[in-house]
Amino acid sequence: MKVKARFFSELMTALSLMMDLDESRKLYHAWRVAILAERMSQEILPEYRTQIFYAGLLHDIGAISLPDHVTHYTDIKEHFKNPILFNHGRKGAQIAREIGPLSLAADMIMDHHEHWDGGGYPRGLKGNNINLGGQILRIADTFDILARVRPPLDLNDIKTILASRRGSEFSDLMFELMIYTLESGSFFEEIIDDTKVSEMVPQIISSLPPVDLSSCNNDLRKVVKIFAQVIDAKHSYTAGHSERVANYTYQLAKAMGLSEGEAERFEIAAYLHDAGKVAIPKHILDKPAALTIDEFKLMKRHPVYTMEIISMVSELKDLVRIAGGHHERYDGRGYPDGASGQNIPLGARIMSVADAFDAMTSLRPYQKIKSKDEAKEVLAENAGSQFDPEISKVAIQVL
Ligand SMILES: [Fe+2]
Ligand SMILES: [Fe+2]
Ligand SMILES: [Fe+2]
Ligand SMILES: [Fe+2]
Repeated sequence: MKVKARFFSELMTALSLMMDLDESRKLYHAWRVAILAERMSQEILPEYRTQIFYAGLLHDIGAISLPDHVTHYTDIKEHFKNPILFNHGRKGAQIAREIGPLSLAADMIMDHHEHWDGGGYPRGLKGNNINLGGQILRIADTFDILARVRPPLDLNDIKTILASRRGSEFSDLMFELMIYTLESGSFFEEIIDDTKVSEMVPQIISSLPPVDLSSCNNDLRKVVKIFAQVIDAKHSYTAGHSERVANYTYQLAKAMGLSEGEAERFEIAAYLHDAGKVAIPKHILDKPAALTIDEFKLMKRHPVYTMEIISMVSELKDLVRIAGGHHERYDGRGYPDGASGQNIPLGARIMSVADAFDAMTSLRPYQKIKSKDEAKEVLAENAGSQFDPEISKVAIQVL
């Protein structure tokens, strides 16, 4: 299956938006940094606009395994105390480098906390040894933190604070470029307005030269697999989970006699089935004990968030209910819709078996790992209640 550049950008923007979800309120941190950095780059690095835009979207991805949004709020001293936080630029660069088409963005992400005077991290680089894109990200990041102070600061307040950091956190050039950008037309009013921000992102994407997907052979499956790794990075126990569920789903679909095309679509949906987990607070995902009722309520929102993410990707519209239905139960006692029997899309019924099978046979904080045979016994016991009995039967034969 050939992948279109539009698919890549839509999925990337959807994921980065949902990573910024805070108590179901969208912070738009990544989007705002991306918009601002791209606009600034038009003046000094126009040929790198695309890379810098994606660097903005992903700049804090290295912190995805940290408690929620700590990079959005903490000041520099706090950062230095926490070794993982201290290294999130490096970790983020590593993740971006794995996304082949974003290798230039990776260098920018690496340097997004370096300071002009050498007082930043992780490498303590100085002056123009700092990647220029990284310098742009630094000041854009600082702007967004100031823009979210409540009660809101006006443009003059923000200018004063930024001016006090020129020569230390960033260069005179960056300061002047930032002020020039904020003061051009109504840009400042727009960038602090969440509604405007969500209109600006698709406009920018359609105006940017597309990312070059040749390093993934333009293969949809390869690109989705990279995204699945990003999703699983949130949560140490789920490493490889999305890919295994995708493999099981494909295997089951083929064994049930579905066409290659349909099996591949279900497989794509399975790679992304837990995408919504990027929006679930880390302490809930990692809790080594049973969840409280309120925590479970939040956890149960992840398939809804998955649907929200997938519905933002035009090429995946047909997979919204399939990916979002992986916690529905055949007897109607699942979530989020409580659909039952054949009312649950076939792909979702297959994925529910694949998901449960992998959860049982891989390491989780709250349970003992089961052998494949033990897991199949559970599939048999729950055929007709949790699982579609036909699919359980096939799974017991082929998994
Ligand atoms: Fe950061
Ligand atoms: Fe940030
Ligand atoms: Fe799930
Ligand atoms: Fe899952």
